[in-house]
Amino acid sequence: MGKKSSFVKEFFKEKKQVGAIAPSSRFLMKKMLKPIDFNKAKVIVELGPGNGVFTKGILDKMLPDAKLFSFELNENFYEHIKKEITDDRLVLLNQSAENIPEVLASYGFTKAHFIVSSLPLAVIPQDSKINIIRAAVEHLDEDGFYIQFQYSLNAKKLLEENFKEVKIDFTPANIPPAFVYRCSL
Ligand SMILES: C[S@@+](CC[C@H](N)C(=O)[O-])C[C@H]1O[C@@H](n2cnc3c(N)ncnc32)[C@H](O)[C@@H]1O
Repeated sequence: MGKKSSFVKEFFKEKKQVGAIAPSSRFLMKKMLKPIDFNKAKVIVELGPGNGVFTKGILDKMLPDAKLFSFELNENFYEHIKKEITDDRLVLLNQSAENIPEVLASYGFTKAHFIVSSLPLAVIPQDSKINIIRAAVEHLDEDGFYIQFQYSLNAKKLLEENFKEVKIDFTPANIPPAFVYRCSL
């Protein structure tokens, strides 16, 4: 699968799932990863890696003995990442983010130090969205962050209802411009 053209193709095929017209910029990637203390993060969870722009950024900085669990529901994106990234620290799953509890448990983990989410919360069905946010809250380390980007402030209420603190930053250098939510317990 190619880069931008295939992203656009997946968008038109799976609008409700992909929720974006283009892969994220490197500026947004850097902003998303800024709150992560890579010296202490042993377990990182990524939700909705798409073409893998954040996945690569995380792996570039991650400790040699850390693990990254990336949940991608779309089979074409999953196959793309599987082909493009070979790294023993990456556990790539063609599964919904709703399965965070089972997957972490199957590797003997209960908590993730950081959760990086690109999920299109504005278009994900309500039940599924609630299950994902609850699973994220339950499996986030007490000193960790759930970091989420969105193209609007629609997710503010949902995140504020579930996390103790939500800080919002804005990145104009992305198509479309994006809000980055940094949530903690
Ligand atoms: C907005 S795209 C972001 C892709 C990439 N991280 C980026 O920033 O360019 C959202 C991604 O979330 C995936 N996705 C949607 N619902 C999901 C779910 N329930 N579980 C896992 N991935 C999901 C989509 O297939 C898509 O790849």
